Amino acid sequence: METLLLNADEKSLDLASSLLHDGKLVAFPTETVYGLGADAMNRDAVLSIFSAKGRPADNPLIVHIYDRSQLKELCTIPEQAVSLMDAFWPGPLTLLFEKLPAVPDEVTAGLPTVAVRMPSHPVAAALLRSCRLPVAAPSANSSGRPSPTKASHVLEDMQGKIPLILDGGSCDVGLESTVLDILHGTPTILRPGGVTKEMLEQVLHTEVAVAGSVLRPLRPDETALSPGMRYKHYAPKASVVLVEGKEPSVLSALRELYRKEAAAGKKTCVLCFTEHLNQLQDCSPHDIGSAAHMEEIAGRLFDMLRTLDLEGMECVFSEVVPPEGVGLAVMNRLGRAAAFRTIHADD
Ligand code: TXA
Ligand code: MG
Repeated sequence: METLLLNADEKSLDLASSLLHDGKLVAFPTETVYGLGADAMNRDAVLSIFSAKGRPADNPLIVHIYDRSQLKELCTIPEQAVSLMDAFWPGPLTLLFEKLPAVPDEVTAGLPTVAVRMPSHPVAAALLRSCRLPVAAPSANSSGRPSPTKASHVLEDMQGKIPLILDGGSCDVGLESTVLDILHGTPTILRPGGVTKEMLEQVLHTEVAVAGSVLRPLRPDETALSPGMRYKHYAPKASVVLVEGKEPSVLSALRELYRKEAAAGKKTCVLCFTEHLNQLQDCSPHDIGSAAHMEEIAGRLFDMLRTLDLEGMECVFSEVVPPEGVGLAVMNRLGRAAAFRTIHADD
């Protein structure tokens, strides 16, 4: 199959919309990451998402809408959802709802709940508005690879597998949406993202919990609240190890670790804050962004992980960020890229 990569304009949006109506797949930009969309009510179209990505069938998809009136055909709406939608839609917040029977089980992987979000990216909004379909869309990467934040990333993974990629430039947030469960007691973040725990608590006037497996591996006896948490994710081909502790110990540990692996002939680098580039100049430093701008780090992370693969990196040692605000989402993705392997530099 030939894969067209087109700038998102009126003509390509029309083409995208007619492909979706024909049960075909279209990759499109959102404010978080690029999505791989299909008509959510068309079982076969939804199944083809799983085959294009190589995604396990038991990992459910997020349904994208442009108007709240579309919820009527998808789910029931609990009262608590209204204030959240008022505050954060359109935007990077996905909510779980009790699903209606019309939603194919292929979308929800057989779960009684359906995840829905309303993206704010103008191209995503225009596409959803023009096709008037609820669009099921996971991130447009091959399963296990970092999510795409540029059209070129989508092309790397999806060339020959889908008919169309709409190019809308780089994604702003750069990490996938926050997934929030408000159906089972204490509101719980299943996946942290651009809408932070602190922002949610301000609107809900109650404490918001974070699923345990956000900052550590799922235990063998533990059920994943969000099936996506079971899978290895975001992992570059290199072995990634996180280094935490006080700044001077972290910097000397990074130098030490780099020297040891590089001396053993391994292609090695460190991921560090812009502020530490000079101090780590002999360690092939890769700039993850300024420690003072967490949004910048979030926006770069997936592109950085893909770059490591393109460079053929074998060993990567990375600084960590405080797991607060957007930092929680950064540490969730970085932690999973490292399979949560962490060295404590102060010990
Ligand atoms: O920002 C985003 O959310 C992007 C863009 C394209 O919208 N989409 C995205 O989709 O990241 P995906 O499929 O890569 O991640 C969806 C996550 C998975 O971890 C999945 O397990 C979880 O949402 N999920 C979906 N439906 C669920 C449900 N009913 N219950 C619990 N978790 C669910
Ligand atoms: Mg994904």
